[in-house]
Amino acid sequence: IHSMMFLLLIIAGLGVVTLLVILFAPQIRKYAAGGVCKSTTRLDGKTVLITGANTGIGKETALDLAMRGARVIMACRDVEKGEEAAASIRASYPEARVEVRELDLADTCSIRAFAQKFLREVNQLHILINNAGVMMCPYTKTVDGFEMHIGVNHLGHFLLTSLLIGLLKRSAPARIVVVSSLAHNFGWIRFHDLHSQGSYNSGLAYCQSKLANVLFTRELASRLKGTNVTVNSVHPGTVNSDLTRHSTLMTILFTIFSVFLKTPREGAQTSIYCAIAEELHSISGKHFSDCAPAFVAPQGRSAETARRLWDVSCELLGIEWD
Ligand SMILES: NC(=O)c1ccc[n+]([C@@H]2O[C@H](COP(=O)([O-])OP(=O)(O)OC[C@H]3O[C@@H](n4cnc5c(N)ncnc54)[C@H](OP(=O)(O)O)[C@@H]3O)[C@@H](O)[C@H]2O)c1
Repeated sequence: IHSMMFLLLIIAGLGVVTLLVILFAPQIRKYAAGGVCKSTTRLDGKTVLITGANTGIGKETALDLAMRGARVIMACRDVEKGEEAAASIRASYPEARVEVRELDLADTCSIRAFAQKFLREVNQLHILINNAGVMMCPYTKTVDGFEMHIGVNHLGHFLLTSLLIGLLKRSAPARIVVVSSLAHNFGWIRFHDLHSQGSYNSGLAYCQSKLANVLFTRELASRLKGTNVTVNSVHPGTVNSDLTRHSTLMTILFTIFSVFLKTPREGAQTSIYCAIAEELHSISGKHFSDCAPAFVAPQGRSAETARRLWDVSCELLGIEWD
């Protein structure tokens, strides 16, 4: 009798919660949507580069910046998927100046080939958005032998930025936006085993890479002082995108709780804000969420760790960048 009552209570409770969610869905959606970029800045004559722009947050960022008049270069590892995204952007906004270029951040040869062609063919770059990312994938390595999360999310973008920094400086004022995550709070840089060869946890590997994004932003900002090129990092919010593709559990949870999540368009707002907001013209090395300054975990504020990660990244990539 008792267990029957208990079961009925649970069912009734779930029913009430479901009913409340349905009743208050519009209010919940409005709250979940978070901050909106209210800037009316136009980007006519400006060139923007966005990595991973064929889907999710990157694609919505590309659409928004194209609607402001920018020439938007969508750097995608799968050109076919990129062209489909570009076509859907043109369908929403026929005047959009969007182009697709091939870039696989899991392969330094692809990054170098991309940059070489880019520098030959594009003579200005005003906004670089390091957006592409992988989350919770099974243990895999990039072509160069880096663990996939740190390899794509951090090292790939580190190399890309180093190759384009001269052009950004020549195009100043210019901005770099690094799409990190709240997940940086749960990460630490495992210098003794950066590639998780000793032990691997896909969630922690993601958190480490997102902390690396925050530390990279911090160190790069200090090195860019006086250049009129700024760099800030972003937490886009919890966004219903393809990012959960490697985790069945996360995909199920994201589907069930989708009403509480941001849409990719809502998730793009803080990237757009950091790329264009007038009031941020001289702000650099900061972290934003919901179009406002956001908390950075203590391990993301360590100048020493940031400098060490910078040196280790240069060493792994075989580059000098000072
Ligand atoms: N969604 C969230 O809740 C959330 C929360 C915090 C932070 N973020 C961050 O937001 C960024 C965008 O994520 P999203 O939610 O829009 O996810 P998404 O829909 O999965 O988009 C990720 C993009 O990155 C690209 N990408 C992956 N590996 C790549 C590689 N090796 N070379 C080039 N591009 C590659 C993907 O290309 P393919 O389609 O070809 O795979 C895709 O275009 C990521 O950095 C993520 O960490 C997202």
